[in-house]
Amino acid sequence: MDNSSASHLLFLLWFFAATFSFCKGNSNVSCNEKEKQALLIFKRGLTNSGNTLSSWSDQEDCCRWEGVLCDNKTGRVRELHVGDLNLQGLIPHQLGNLSGLHYLDFGFNPGLYVDSLHWMSSLSSMKHLHMSFVDLHAASDWLQIMSRLPSLSELHLEFCNLDSLNPSLGFVNFTSLLVLDLSYNLFNHEIPNWLISNISATLLQLDLSSNSLKGEIPHGISNFQKLEILALGENHLTGNIPESIGQLKHLTVLDLQINSFSGPIPSSLGNLSFMWELILSDNQLNGTFPKSLALLSNLKFLVIGNNSLTGSLDEVLFTKFSKLKDLDVSQTSLFFNVNSNWVPPFQLENAFMSFCKIGPNFPEWLKTQRSLEILLMSMSGILGKAPSWFWNWTSNVDLIDLSGNHIEGDVSDILLNSRILNLKSNHLKGQLPHLSANVKVLNIANNSFSGSISTLLCHEVNRMNKLEVLDASNNLLSGELSDCWRYWQSLIHLNLGSNNLTGRIPYSMESLVVLEALRLNNNSISGDIPSSLQKCSNLTLIDIGENHFPMTIPLWIGKMPSLQILRLRSSGFTGHIPLQICQLSSLRILDLAKNNLSGPIPKCLNLISAMAMQPNPAYGTFLEYFDDVSPYFDSLMLVPKGVALEYEGNGNLGIVSIIDLSSNNLFGSIPVEISFLSKLRLLNLSQNHLMGKIPEKIGTMEELESIDLSRNHLSGEIPPSMSNLTFLSYLDLSYNNFSGRIPLSTQLQSFDALRYTGNPELCGAPLRKNCTKEQKSDGDTPLGKAEDESETSWFYIGLGVGFALGFWGVCGALFFKRTWRHAYFRFVYDMKGQAYVTTVLKVNWICKKFKKLTLW
Ligand SMILES: *[C@@H]1O[C@H](CO)[C@@H](O)[C@H](O)[C@H]1NC(C)=O
Ligand SMILES: *[C@@H]1O[C@H](CO)[C@@H](O)[C@H](O)[C@H]1NC(C)=O
Ligand SMILES: *[C@@H]1O[C@H](CO)[C@@H](O)[C@H](O)[C@H]1NC(C)=O
Ligand SMILES: *[C@@H]1O[C@H](CO)[C@@H](O)[C@H](O)[C@H]1NC(C)=O
Ligand SMILES: *[C@@H]1O[C@H](CO)[C@@H](O)[C@H](O)[C@H]1NC(C)=O
Ligand SMILES: *[C@@H]1O[C@H](CO)[C@@H](O)[C@H](O)[C@H]1NC(C)=O
Ligand SMILES: *[C@@H]1O[C@H](CO)[C@@H](O)[C@H](O)[C@H]1NC(C)=O
Ligand SMILES: *[C@@H]1O[C@H](CO)[C@@H](O)[C@H](O)[C@H]1NC(C)=O
Ligand SMILES: *[C@@H]1O[C@H](CO)[C@@H](O)[C@H](O)[C@H]1NC(C)=O
Ligand SMILES: *[C@@H]1O[C@H](CO)[C@@H](O)[C@H](O)[C@H]1NC(C)=O
Ligand SMILES: *[C@@H]1O[C@H](CO)[C@@H](O)[C@H](O)[C@H]1NC(C)=O
Ligand SMILES: *[C@@H]1O[C@H](CO)[C@@H](O)[C@H](O)[C@H]1NC(C)=O
Repeated sequence: MDNSSASHLLFLLWFFAATFSFCKGNSNVSCNEKEKQALLIFKRGLTNSGNTLSSWSDQEDCCRWEGVLCDNKTGRVRELHVGDLNLQGLIPHQLGNLSGLHYLDFGFNPGLYVDSLHWMSSLSSMKHLHMSFVDLHAASDWLQIMSRLPSLSELHLEFCNLDSLNPSLGFVNFTSLLVLDLSYNLFNHEIPNWLISNISATLLQLDLSSNSLKGEIPHGISNFQKLEILALGENHLTGNIPESIGQLKHLTVLDLQINSFSGPIPSSLGNLSFMWELILSDNQLNGTFPKSLALLSNLKFLVIGNNSLTGSLDEVLFTKFSKLKDLDVSQTSLFFNVNSNWVPPFQLENAFMSFCKIGPNFPEWLKTQRSLEILLMSMSGILGKAPSWFWNWTSNVDLIDLSGNHIEGDVSDILLNSRILNLKSNHLKGQLPHLSANVKVLNIANNSFSGSISTLLCHEVNRMNKLEVLDASNNLLSGELSDCWRYWQSLIHLNLGSNNLTGRIPYSMESLVVLEALRLNNNSISGDIPSSLQKCSNLTLIDIGENHFPMTIPLWIGKMPSLQILRLRSSGFTGHIPLQICQLSSLRILDLAKNNLSGPIPKCLNLISAMAMQPNPAYGTFLEYFDDVSPYFDSLMLVPKGVALEYEGNGNLGIVSIIDLSSNNLFGSIPVEISFLSKLRLLNLSQNHLMGKIPEKIGTMEELESIDLSRNHLSGEIPPSMSNLTFLSYLDLSYNNFSGRIPLSTQLQSFDALRYTGNPELCGAPLRKNCTKEQKSDGDTPLGKAEDESETSWFYIGLGVGFALGFWGVCGALFFKRTWRHAYFRFVYDMKGQAYVTTVLKVNWICKKFKKLTLW
């Protein structure tokens, strides 16, 4: 390891110190009684200390307590390590008695908080202070207090709920500060002047990432003459990156990702010869890649993706980049200007080149890369056949994404070996390839593979497979579903939709005991649905729509406890809708449209409790397959508002709930019980023979966005409560026998009159027909709120109790919000102990940690 990386390991040290170090006291000195009492008060105030501080007993010398280290001469407590125990409670002011403290670590106890920090003023020997995750929002004078600690050299206050760096302060008197980490707080002002004028002379490391800092980087940034690490990523900073950054000649890490910086990459960065990590991704930088940067011979991480950079990356630019490991130029307009026989000086581990100009020719230089673990090259304009070495070469690459190119070829004789392969949307043809036991995810959707799928399923070569995700939808596969499913017991997600498969669903599919998603939609499969499928008890999604099953819906379907999505659309099902459907308490999407179902809508629908509960944002995620950097997303075609729409597993599919029974022969009335499904979003009962009234309480289904009741025999007045449906954006009541006045609301009048047409007795806006006096008016109805918060607020619901907002904001969003996840997945892949100090890595670490602790 070279010097610079060694010095950065130090930066992370507190992380691991906080986690792993527990110091036993010295044996020969005994502790000060006042200090002991102060510590006992701290312990007593904890709400859940459990056994974690069990050695802290009144009888025992406090210098022997776990986490307490005393001065070996005076017996005064010198270090206190109580980080990472998950302690909860108030940090008491009596700790001010520990005036000999040099080292204090409360970090990673998200339940700790303070009501004031005045007690800290007496800790005048304090050198290292770690309070990450402690809620400090009540201590608005934290800065004044901490800056008066004359010996303070390291200060770590991540995720502390701090909301201001007091930018108006004239000066702040930190005299010996070397390391300042204030990432993941709530600062939403400009970078304060005092930072530049008062602490810049000494500081080695400054981390203000993941706040909401505004404004530009001040030119005075060049005052930080000793600075080695500057992390300002994930803020709202704007303007150009100042050329003066090039004067920070000790800089080794510059992380400005995920801001709104514009203009060029400063060419002065080429002066920073120690730089090994340059992270400028996710900004609006434009212009070309500066030639001066070719001098950065220590560069390991060059991450400039998702910017408006243009121009060429010439061979000569890379001449000195022999240490380069990670290259991210994805989502830029940069193109590689290299000869086909170019031998780069580097051995990359991660090459992120999706959505950038690589093609039309295959990048031959990849052949020289023998350490590559991740190759992301989707949508990069590659045309034609992959070179003959390519498929064999991929066998050492762990993850490959070539989706959305125009790669041609027949891979039927190839043995694929990468753990994750995404070849979706290319022009691959021939029979299906062979798979080694390494392959976990194979996505070959949207190609031209043909022949029988038994060439894959039954071939001896494939029998050792451990495949978990197979998506071969949208190909030209034919033949029957074969009887070789016993060799594929690792499958979690199977999508063979939109092929030309025939025959029955074989009994042997019962072997797929961990299967969560079964998609066979849009084929020519027919016959019975075998009851053996019940054994796949983890099935969460069944989509066998658009086939030929001229049978009744099987009653055992009610015994699939995990089922959330049932799509039997357009497959010739007959008979009644079985009451057993109501036992599916997790069901959120029920699509039985376009069958020959008759009889009434079951009254017991109110038992489907998932449709009455706020969606759990994690719901959609079973359609996503998380594995390090490569999320696999499936999507589902639904018909929400009269138009077929693709619902994505990583997006709206997780939060939608829908009942679509349209285009059947259902009769009877709409059961009033349906109004108990208060979180239903989309309801389509159109084109049946339903009679009677719309349930009066339909207004309690407050999340409804779309109602289609058209082409039935419904009658009576439109219930006034419908004016309460403030999210309604689609309504079709046409061709029924409704009568009376259309209730007044912001929504109901906004729809086209065609949505009410074919009801001769209906009157009032938006219909042209005026109501007569006798036609009852519904009087004053509250006007609906126009806010549309539901889309953004969903993922906070149910989260956050007792935890720092910042923490959930980050981890919650990270796991559930697509755009953030991109940034996250960009980096998370196996860092192999490298001192990869970007904020993203920290988040990963923190989130994983708490995921484990809090079981979400
Ligand atoms: C601790 O005390 C023992 C005897 O009481 C003595 O032999 C030893 O040298 C002492 N150690 C220290 C570090 O003072
Ligand atoms: C006492 O502590 C100091 C530093 O804290 C250390 O250098 C010294 O070796 C210690 N002495 C003993 C006897 O442990
Ligand atoms: C020390 O502890 C006592 C009682 O435990 C308390 O009254 C006093 O305020 C503490 N001193 C400081 C400096 O916090
Ligand atoms: C700053 O702190 C130092 C050391 O604590 C002290 O000597 C100096 O007077 C302080 N300066 C101001 C302006 O408070
Ligand atoms: C802090 O900055 C102010 C304004 O530039 C200056 O007057 C003051 O002397 C500085 N104090 C220290 C301790 O650097
Ligand atoms: C820094 O870079 C700029 C622009 O590339 C150059 O003009 C200047 O001479 C360099 N300064 C040093 C100290 O190398
Ligand atoms: C970069 O963008 C700015 C506007 O943000 C524009 O004025 C400038 O011309 C652009 N530069 C290049 C090289 O495209
Ligand atoms: C593929 O690589 C293996 C060794 O990794 C080698 O034995 C085999 O001959 C290669 N196949 C082709 C077609 O190049
Ligand atoms: C699908 O299969 C049917 C019958 O086997 C055949 O007639 C048809 O051509 C096939 N379609 C395609 C697109 O292969
Ligand atoms: C079904 O999933 C649960 C957890 O979601 C798991 O514990 C169980 O083992 C799974 N069942 C099978 C048959 O794998
Ligand atoms: C609309 O909702 C409000 C509050 O939920 C309720 O008081 C009111 O009665 C409802 N209006 C109608 C017409 O149902
Ligand atoms: C409906 O009433 C309005 C006045 O309220 C009148 O101007 C309009 O002519 C009437 N339309 C019809 C078709 O009677």
